Amino acid sequence: EQNMNSLIMIFGATGDLAKRKLFPSLYRLFERGRLTNKFAVIGVARRPLSNDEFQQSVKDSVVAALGRDKNIEEFISHFYYQSHDVTDSNSYISLKKFAEQIDYHYSLDGNRIFYLAMAPEFFGTIALHLKSDGLTDVSGYKRLVIEKPFGHDLESAKELNKQIRTAFSEEEIYRIDHYLGKEMVRNIEVIRFANAIFEPLWNNRYISNIQITSSEILGVEERGRYYETSGALRDMVQNHMMQMVALLAMEPPIKLSTNEIRSEKVRVFRSLRAVEGEEVKDYFVRGQYGEGTIEDEQVQAYRNEPMVDKQSTTETFVAGKVMIDNFRWAGVPFYIRTGKRMTEKSTKIVIQFKDIPMNLYYQTEKMLNPNLLVIHIQPEEGITLHLNAKKAGGHLDAQEVKLSFANTGVHAMNTPEGYEKLLFDCMNGDATNFTHWDEVAYSWSFVDKISKFWQKEQASFPNYQSGTMGPNAADELLEKDGFFWWPVTDLEVDICK
Ligand code: BG6
Repeated sequence: EQNMNSLIMIFGATGDLAKRKLFPSLYRLFERGRLTNKFAVIGVARRPLSNDEFQQSVKDSVVAALGRDKNIEEFISHFYYQSHDVTDSNSYISLKKFAEQIDYHYSLDGNRIFYLAMAPEFFGTIALHLKSDGLTDVSGYKRLVIEKPFGHDLESAKELNKQIRTAFSEEEIYRIDHYLGKEMVRNIEVIRFANAIFEPLWNNRYISNIQITSSEILGVEERGRYYETSGALRDMVQNHMMQMVALLAMEPPIKLSTNEIRSEKVRVFRSLRAVEGEEVKDYFVRGQYGEGTIEDEQVQAYRNEPMVDKQSTTETFVAGKVMIDNFRWAGVPFYIRTGKRMTEKSTKIVIQFKDIPMNLYYQTEKMLNPNLLVIHIQPEEGITLHLNAKKAGGHLDAQEVKLSFANTGVHAMNTPEGYEKLLFDCMNGDATNFTHWDEVAYSWSFVDKISKFWQKEQASFPNYQSGTMGPNAADELLEKDGFFWWPVTDLEVDICK
């Protein structure tokens, strides 16, 4: 492990992300002894706040997220606040002085992490100022942690990248994709590369298709303004969904180093079949939620949400067929599906194996079920393997059985665990689970072609009711290939609570 001493400067320290994820995650690292005494946080935001007020808000957010506060006074004593105007050089100059004092006080070796947890329109400006006003002149390491969205399309992402690269090298940039902090997303690699029984089958000879569903119950909530400029394709597919595709599809890296893993992921992105123009219709389906009922509650249509255009054509649902044109995956569809206001909050990956060559068990009423390997990302965490075995007692009837593994210590939803791991990695200088610029660029270029086509085409929205699994077209997408979405509710892992 590296020198973990660091001064963490959080831009956007009064915002939602800082409160819900970052402070609780830092506290978790602190309580597990993973932060040395040598750390300090400077919260930066526009609003004037005293240190005391800021420390109180850190404390409140820890208690709200975790329901405990052991040693909290000691923890929050490491937090400082500075009111800041992101466009004003004087602001940065006084921040620099303040940072130097804190650095000296805690002997932080000049190590600095800049965490941008705020509106993306300021990312570039901040990076430029950090450089020009001298905050990046440090004797230790400097790292930039940057939240999504990383641009709005390839062009804007390039522009943003250019700006942040004036102040930070690619190795110093930690682009967050919080799915890469999820326990079971990290487990994909281990399941694949630490078992003799999967890797030989992990290709187009034995796998018929892969399905990745990430469904949400929540609607757009208070984020209408952002979401109207984004939509599900940019909000979920460009990053989280494509990252899961890459982890499932990549070749075994020669070793587990950041560069080796990244370059294998990049090769997957390079193999994506580009879909554009009219073709998009054969590969991608979009949806927008209308009103409906979720968990017995009546909810309104997307178009009636706050800050949303009454005629909005923003998609809140995407289903797609992603093809990876390489030797391993030729002909195997990766179906992805994500949306808001669906039936349940769940992320699952289903790997469906091909049928056996011949079925000797036709006396069973139905066809044999194919073997499935299901990776449960959330809310349960685990793996299930669906097999066929003899029905006890009867004739030679085959029935489906499930072998399951559940991660013990089931995490409640919205716990900060993902961020905890990512923050730790960043302090530790491990960028493996952050996205490299090349991944971002390839992924945007894939997604841009789809959004370009959608922009021109009329969408007849809303086209799915809240509380359902999306528009019918999403089912037809698989039906025309002879598949169907494995119902997520039937795939529960048996959890030992
Ligand atoms: C975020 C999106 O990146 O991921 C949100 O901006 C979405 O719209 C969220 O709700 C989903 O994350 P999780 O961890 O709750 O599955």
